[in-house]
Amino acid sequence: PPVAIFGVPTDVGAGTRGASMGPETLRVAGLVEALQARGVDVQDCGNLEGPRNPWQAPVEGYRHLDEVVAWNRAVMETSASVLGDGRLPILLGGDHCLAVGSIVAVARHCRDAGKKLRVLWLDAHADFNTHDLTPSGNVHGMPVACLCGIGPRALTHLGGDAPAISPADVRQIGIRSVDQGEKRLVKEHGLDIYDMRYIDEVGMKRVMEEVLEGVDEDTHLHVSFDVDMLDPAIAPGTGTRVPGGVDYREAQLIMEMIADTGRLGSLDIVEVNPALDLRNATAVLAVDLVESLFGKSTLMRD
Ligand code: ARG
Ligand code: MN
Ligand code: MN
Ligand code: MN
Repeated sequence: PPVAIFGVPTDVGAGTRGASMGPETLRVAGLVEALQARGVDVQDCGNLEGPRNPWQAPVEGYRHLDEVVAWNRAVMETSASVLGDGRLPILLGGDHCLAVGSIVAVARHCRDAGKKLRVLWLDAHADFNTHDLTPSGNVHGMPVACLCGIGPRALTHLGGDAPAISPADVRQIGIRSVDQGEKRLVKEHGLDIYDMRYIDEVGMKRVMEEVLEGVDEDTHLHVSFDVDMLDPAIAPGTGTRVPGGVDYREAQLIMEMIADTGRLGSLDIVEVNPALDLRNATAVLAVDLVESLFGKSTLMRD
């Protein structure tokens, strides 16, 4: 399908500055050209606008909540209008708090179109914190909980009354850092987590078969790709690095197996932070992986 790219230059949800430079750095790494080379019709809508980062301490367990909400409203509106145009939205973050607005819009679109939504959350972190569990107050550690109806009203009700998704709609891959209280909450809500230990034990092929089980013609796949899923040795340009991540071949296989379903419907690429990167390696790698996500393969396959 045709795609529409929009940048969302935020770091209001993060504890380190610089992810706000992510959108431009992904463009510099050649994202638009790489998609065009795949034969994809690409429209680059430029960047959204929103409040600056006031760089303040958390208040009642949230840092910059008003700013986070304002940005997410803009994301929700843009994403909804892209989907309404029949294009596949690609959000260039920005920090991962933006997944709230992005997935609220996608969930509503799926409801209207009678499609089943499956969210593939590629990340080192579960991002299932709440204001009283968070060790940091950073809202980029909370979007999955917010989407499932657990969090501040302004975010849990961004798109209306009911929670946007249920934990059963989510599959998380690459997880290796979950905070103490967050662990309990994840377990309580039965979040489906394919953590690094499980990936090591059974291998990425089987993990992806399980993750994609039940995906059919009526499924919309939303990929929320936090680049800190990747091992910091190959992706140093991100604010919350955790050792022992997904390696290059494993990451390629994730993308290739998603591409094979033909059901990719929307994509977030978040947490690229050029201020921490080495010669833009992380953005270049992200673009390389997106090519695979859009069907690039070594050989012709049928
Ligand atoms: N669990 C930590 C926290 O809540 C880190 C979250 C990192 N999230 C991310 N999207 N990079 O502060
Ligand atoms: Mn993360
Ligand atoms: Mn490994
Ligand atoms: Mn994340």
